[in-house]
Amino acid sequence: MKLGAHALPSAVFVAPMAGITDRPFRRLARRYGAGLAVSEMVSARPELRASRKSLLRLDHAGEPAPISVQIAGADPVMLAQAARHNVERGAEIIDINMGCPAKKVCNVFAGSALLADENLVARIVAAVVAAVPVPVTVKIRTGSSPAQRNAVRIAQIVEAAGAQLLAIHGRTRACMFEGQAEYDTIAEVKSRVRIPVIANGDIATPEDAKCVLALTGADGIMIGRAAQGRPWLFRCITHYLATGERLAAPRPREIGEVLVEHLDGLYDLYGEEQGARVARKHIGWTVRQLPGGESLRHAVNGMTVAHAQRAAVNDYFERLAA
Ligand SMILES: Cc1cc2nc3c(=O)[nH]c(=O)nc-3n(C[C@H](O)[C@H](O)[C@H](O)COP(=O)(O)O)c2cc1C
Repeated sequence: MKLGAHALPSAVFVAPMAGITDRPFRRLARRYGAGLAVSEMVSARPELRASRKSLLRLDHAGEPAPISVQIAGADPVMLAQAARHNVERGAEIIDINMGCPAKKVCNVFAGSALLADENLVARIVAAVVAAVPVPVTVKIRTGSSPAQRNAVRIAQIVEAAGAQLLAIHGRTRACMFEGQAEYDTIAEVKSRVRIPVIANGDIATPEDAKCVLALTGADGIMIGRAAQGRPWLFRCITHYLATGERLAAPRPREIGEVLVEHLDGLYDLYGEEQGARVARKHIGWTVRQLPGGESLRHAVNGMTVAHAQRAAVNDYFERLAA
């Protein structure tokens, strides 16, 4: 798939997840074949640019191109300035968040709250497209609520305003994460616009990926929660889509090496203390279905020192591999 000047290595993308898809996670996912890994959202508000959180979210050192930065906000001028600011700092794609239902985002009328104001959506996308020389992409939900599923109109607006790709999570804002994602609306959107459409929501296995692509006719898929603790899922899915063959799960040795690399990336990015805290959930997700995983999870949750955490993980996987 092409996006502007960028030839993406696959049409299986990582979904942006604030607090999870930081640089260490994105690097692993890309290495395992994810075609694009959008950053966690950063606020468009200029007063937040220098916050530690924003600076960490915008650290792309060593990340493979193209670097895609997601911006969140509701004011077209501010979003345009934020897009420019991020492009000056290395973003090669700007993604606009119109999909997040989180209160913190929606209270300021951003994220998926924007879907209720089609005029504002048009002004935001046009302003951001005019502000930067790089491709602009948009991530949406199917509408504000099941009674107001306006994703087709939003998609047409976004396309007319110059966005080059649209990702859709098959739930409305009101649905939060409840129930099952639906793909009919995504199929309808795909049939009504010419820009690439990426389907998202509840894709957890290679078979799900194939099924959602067939149901929607989408150009690609985006995977979030199912990749938590399993960055190799991108390899399994891209391989299955290309060959119809299911790859065996990675062996404990590979899982251990990947997890330790992930931990080292977290300690390096956040510093050892915060890194050890952030690492806990990733360790828990990685070992949740492995023998003795629950005891390891308990043990590392009590650890505040990075080298002790790393050593516990190493020991666990050495025992498992033996
Ligand atoms: C913890 C968490 C954080 C998220 N953060 C963002 C975000 O920063 N920007 C965004 O557009 N979507 C965000 N999302 C939504 C995901 O990108 C995705 O649309 C959603 O999880 C559905 O896909 P999945 O079923 O594959 O997880 C987040 C989801 C989760 C679970």
